[in-house]
Amino acid sequence: MDLTDIDASAWAELETAAANPQSAFRYLNLCSVDTEMRPQARMVVLRGADRSVRRLEFHTDSRSSKWLELSANPHVTVLGFSAESRLQLRLQGKVELHGPGSGGADAAWNRLAAQTRMTYAGGPPGQERAFETIDMAEPAAEVEAKARFGLLIFRARTLDWFQLRQQDNRRALFCYDEAGALSSCRWLNP
Ligand SMILES: Cc1cc2nc3c(=O)[nH]c(=O)nc-3n(C[C@H](O)[C@H](O)[C@H](O)COP(=O)(O)O)c2cc1C
Repeated sequence: MDLTDIDASAWAELETAAANPQSAFRYLNLCSVDTEMRPQARMVVLRGADRSVRRLEFHTDSRSSKWLELSANPHVTVLGFSAESRLQLRLQGKVELHGPGSGGADAAWNRLAAQTRMTYAGGPPGQERAFETIDMAEPAAEVEAKARFGLLIFRARTLDWFQLRQQDNRRALFCYDEAGALSSCRWLNP
């Protein structure tokens, strides 16, 4: 495989993962830096991927710590690993935050299953649990949930591709321009 094929196949895997819950890259580690310059990492579900513009989509609660952290500093690393192909994908770039009520968040919300929407119906993430009963069938619960739902659009500027092999590990770096087009690629020493 040449480098452009490797880039294409990495993004094809991400597109597959966005549609397939069984895929290795379905759950990715989203890493940010908080306001005190401490690293923060958490797993997120890959909700969408578009290889033509090197874009990934994630969903979160706009009351969460990550939302606040990303509002102040949108630079992130997205890390994934497939045990089957022994492949690590390490992407760097920035996220755009589409808050509750924005066109992007509304469109993503409309595609969500009713059960998934209710993930956003509870109390503020990270605060002590009050165990109040939420009537999921109550239309007001869904309205409140929607008012917290946030969409994160990640645009990759680099992909550090690493394959663990028995002997000869492989590593390559891909750089993308602002529009997501491949601007350079090269093999790196692993
Ligand atoms: C497999 C898995 C998938 C997750 N997916 C999401 C997700 O898509 N969005 C999200 O906000 N949190 C998700 N979480 C929870 C986050 O990892 C995290 O614990 C939570 O969002 C609080 O993070 P924060 O304090 O950095 O905001 C997931 C957790 C696991 C274990």
